[in-house]
Amino acid sequence: MESNVLSMKFPHALCSVVPLFCGGKLLGIGKDAAASQSVTTVQWGPCDPVLALDSALQCAFFEIPLDYHNHSVGVARLGLVKANATRERRGTVFMNPGGPGVSGINDLNSTSALLLDQTGGYYDVVSWDPRGVGTVTIPGDVFCFDSAEEQQAFFNGTIEVNGIEMTGNFTDPADIQNLLAQAGTMQKQYDGLAQRCSQHSDGKYLQYVGTAATARDLAAMADALDGPGSPVNYIGLSYGTILGSWFINMFPERVGRVVIDGVVDPARFGTVDIALSGWGAQLVDADKVYEAFFTGCALAGPAGCPIASAGQTPVDVNNDIQALLQAAHDTARANPSAPVTSGQIRALLRTIMYVPTTWGLFVNTTLSQFAQEVQAESGGNITRRRSIRERDEKETFPYSTEAIICGDSKDNTGANMTDVFEGIISTSNNISSMFAAAWPFATYYCPFWPVRAVERYEGPFNKTLANPILVIGNTFDPATPFSGAKAVADELGDHAALVRLNGFGHTSQAEPSACISNIIRAYMVNGTLPQGDETVCEVDADFEVFPGVNTSAILASMPAMDV
Ligand SMILES: *[C@@H]1O[C@H](CO)[C@@H](O)[C@H](O)[C@H]1NC(C)=O
Ligand SMILES: *[C@@H]1O[C@H](CO)[C@@H](O)[C@H](O)[C@H]1NC(C)=O
Ligand SMILES: *[C@@H]1O[C@H](CO)[C@@H](O)[C@H](O)[C@H]1NC(C)=O
Ligand SMILES: *[C@@H]1O[C@H](CO)[C@@H](O)[C@H](O)[C@H]1NC(C)=O
Ligand SMILES: *[C@@H]1O[C@H](CO)[C@@H](O)[C@H](O)[C@H]1NC(C)=O
Ligand SMILES: *[C@@H]1O[C@H](CO)[C@@H](O)[C@H](O)[C@H]1NC(C)=O
Ligand SMILES: *[C@@H]1O[C@H](CO)[C@@H](O)[C@H](O)[C@H]1NC(C)=O
Ligand SMILES: *[C@@H]1O[C@H](CO)[C@@H](O)[C@H](O)[C@H]1NC(C)=O
Ligand SMILES: *[C@@H]1O[C@H](CO)[C@@H](O)[C@H](O)[C@H]1NC(C)=O
Ligand SMILES: *[C@@H]1O[C@H](CO)[C@@H](O)[C@H](O)[C@H]1NC(C)=O
Ligand SMILES: *[C@@H]1O[C@H](CO)[C@@H](O)[C@H](O)[C@H]1NC(C)=O
Repeated sequence: MESNVLSMKFPHALCSVVPLFCGGKLLGIGKDAAASQSVTTVQWGPCDPVLALDSALQCAFFEIPLDYHNHSVGVARLGLVKANATRERRGTVFMNPGGPGVSGINDLNSTSALLLDQTGGYYDVVSWDPRGVGTVTIPGDVFCFDSAEEQQAFFNGTIEVNGIEMTGNFTDPADIQNLLAQAGTMQKQYDGLAQRCSQHSDGKYLQYVGTAATARDLAAMADALDGPGSPVNYIGLSYGTILGSWFINMFPERVGRVVIDGVVDPARFGTVDIALSGWGAQLVDADKVYEAFFTGCALAGPAGCPIASAGQTPVDVNNDIQALLQAAHDTARANPSAPVTSGQIRALLRTIMYVPTTWGLFVNTTLSQFAQEVQAESGGNITRRRSIRERDEKETFPYSTEAIICGDSKDNTGANMTDVFEGIISTSNNISSMFAAAWPFATYYCPFWPVRAVERYEGPFNKTLANPILVIGNTFDPATPFSGAKAVADELGDHAALVRLNGFGHTSQAEPSACISNIIRAYMVNGTLPQGDETVCEVDADFEVFPGVNTSAILASMPAMDV
């Protein structure tokens, strides 16, 4: 996502830290891809330490058809990772960390302890690099360029690198004109990119990378690990909730214990044009998360949050950040080669909103550094132009997130870049003034994406399930608002229980909550779900977002404010 749209991690440059539409190397010991279509035994072996250093994890390959409806297309293979059950094993629980494009193998390396705890230790926790993801699954990460140089040169000087310049609610006519004037250029770039993606050696796989096929992979893995037709247990975060919703409605009779957390409304995804108005609906609470950020900073004061001055209110801290954005904006407008643009700061801030556990470090390091650089450049001290995808200056980066999101999306190839830009301006006006203009973003590639997946699932999303599921949403989530969790739970009626974590950030893993862990554990271990229309959990009171400042203190100071 560029900001990864749907995951706990960051834009390509930061994807390893945060993903939802964000976008490893595994050496499984296992059977090599062979032409067999029957259920095969999975042979676990040590993981490549580059992918997962934790020696308690084991890895394997698993063979799948590229196209479930046409086996003659050929075979593919998934890279799997497993954390053994710590008590009497009852079966497997599968986990998808989101993105799409995030490696499940990498992710389990850091989340296995939490997941074993939340599942009571009774299940093997298995994740995988889905088709289109990572370095060991085939087809893996989707590349469209052969070198970083080629990729950088391709987008050099465009909003893809510099972000979009705007202030306030994107009402300044000069900003609007500047953006709309780039529609032709960007449309040409994205059309050209689509052509490269098709022609690249990965291009032949694009139509087989998609969530419906991945849902079938999930069923196939459960067949192999827990027996043919076995109940499928699954935890899906962020984009993993789309996979979860598709899976439970494609295979309602296979539903075992399923948790979806940080929920996208699947009825909108896949049927609404997500490149235009559709994505805006994901941002309805994004500015509230930003409000939590500067409120927490003000409550901590300079001793805990160095960008705050003594005695500053939350409004003051926000005004200072707005002034920083304004200064970067004005400088970039006056000098097109200014090294830091407001668009870059905005894109980074958006990804930071996903993970409150990183806010303290972010203000101490990156944000303070931006403030210094902007001050220097407003004084005429221009240095090197920075890129949104900073880390990528050395390596070429994949379009896995885009391939999966756009392969799954409604065919909106009639839309043009002017339409995309107008959607951004409107979302800035009406929904999120802070983050609607953060560019690039995976969904914006979709009108130009060359293919759609061979299979998509558009509903219904109210099937009668073999077992009820658990649906979790945060009060303020920057990418998957609580309304998504509520929509899924409402659709499923008695087949779902809805839990709200009264905190902020993306998915319930964004802030620690023993209450959430207890609810997941009771469900996974005993099948017990909370009663009532909505159960509310608090974030652990001893978790400090900034030194001395916990979540409830921030929430208590927020309601009076207007971002
Ligand atoms: C795996 O987790 C360990 C800490 O448990 C960390 O040191 C290591 O960098 C992680 N490895 C990967 C490949 O993510
Ligand atoms: C996991 O469990 C399997 C089966 O009991 C065992 O063979 C394997 O050694 C275990 N793996 C680890 C890393 O403990
Ligand atoms: C199945 O795939 C093969 C190989 O790509 C292709 O030649 C054939 O037309 C496909 N069949 C159908 C029914 O799509
Ligand atoms: C981008 O363009 C600038 C100015 O035209 C040029 O100096 C620079 O080398 C280009 N960078 C890349 C990666 O092509
Ligand atoms: C943006 O729009 C919101 C809602 O209409 C409004 O409350 C806010 O004051 C506006 N912000 C700016 C900077 O214009
Ligand atoms: C997009 O289409 C509209 C009208 O259909 C047109 O006015 C506009 O110029 C087009 N934009 C681009 C970038 O081609
Ligand atoms: C950030 O800096 C403040 C003030 O120096 C300090 O109290 C706090 O612990 C730092 N936070 C992190 C995460 O480094
Ligand atoms: C959003 O803002 C635009 C102006 O960019 C306006 O034309 C439109 O009616 C607004 N939409 C809603 C739903 O308020
Ligand atoms: C399920 O949803 C479909 C629309 O997708 C609707 O037509 C149908 O009435 C719903 N069924 C129930 C039992 O609510
Ligand atoms: C499951 O139910 C048993 C028996 O009622 C109880 O002792 C145990 O604490 C429950 N486990 C969880 C994780 O809720
Ligand atoms: C959380 O913050 C509130 C308000 O500052 C405070 O009253 C409460 O004691 C804190 N809780 C913990 C466990 O620190």
